Amino acid sequence: MKIISFEGIEGVGKSTQIKLLTNHFQSTGISYEQFREPGSSDAGEKIREILLDKSLQLSSSTELLLMFAARSELINQKINNSSAEFVILDRYFHASVAYQGYGRGINLDSIYQLIKITECPTPSLTIILDIDVETGFKRKAADTKDRIESAGDDFFEKVRAGYLEIAKDHDYIKVVDADDDPEAIHQKIISLIEEINHD
Ligand code: TMP
Repeated sequence: MKIISFEGIEGVGKSTQIKLLTNHFQSTGISYEQFREPGSSDAGEKIREILLDKSLQLSSSTELLLMFAARSELINQKINNSSAEFVILDRYFHASVAYQGYGRGINLDSIYQLIKITECPTPSLTIILDIDVETGFKRKAADTKDRIESAGDDFFEKVRAGYLEIAKDHDYIKVVDADDDPEAIHQKIISLIEEINHD
């Protein structure tokens, strides 16, 4: 089983790319399971509701711990039990580093400790779809903003910069320009997956 995770700020087109990828896997007979974070377990979906609820004020550390609580359920209930060839994740622990670490300002070492404690399996490929904050939000202009999306442009500038910083640390993390035609982006992603399949 290989994990492919998708990351990026709001409006980068993660959902479109995940849909194109799952269509590709279906048409080529490749087995996969798809999960979202936070969520995709019974407890995780309830935790997601709390995390995105605009009427709640949560401290940054509460936000971080809830992300990892949901993640721990996903790992133990779904990811570790998957017999599919690929597990596709709509966000994973890099989101906590980018959003709660670089965005909210929580010490990165504490986040890496939580990654250890929850024994997060390392992905084979992490795709960071990158776009500037203004373009990302323009794409989502019609949507109602949830609690995290309401954080403001400065926050998202930090999150974006954080993602680009994280990508420097590991070879399995790839930055893909998201300001391109969706089909062209999809083809780039297919090439990246072919590379990991040869490993
Ligand atoms: P989504 O909109 O991509 O489904 O993600 C839900 C929100 O949660 C999104 O604003 C990003 C945020 N998030 C974090 O802040 N930290 C995390 O660890 C994860 C997984 C998501």
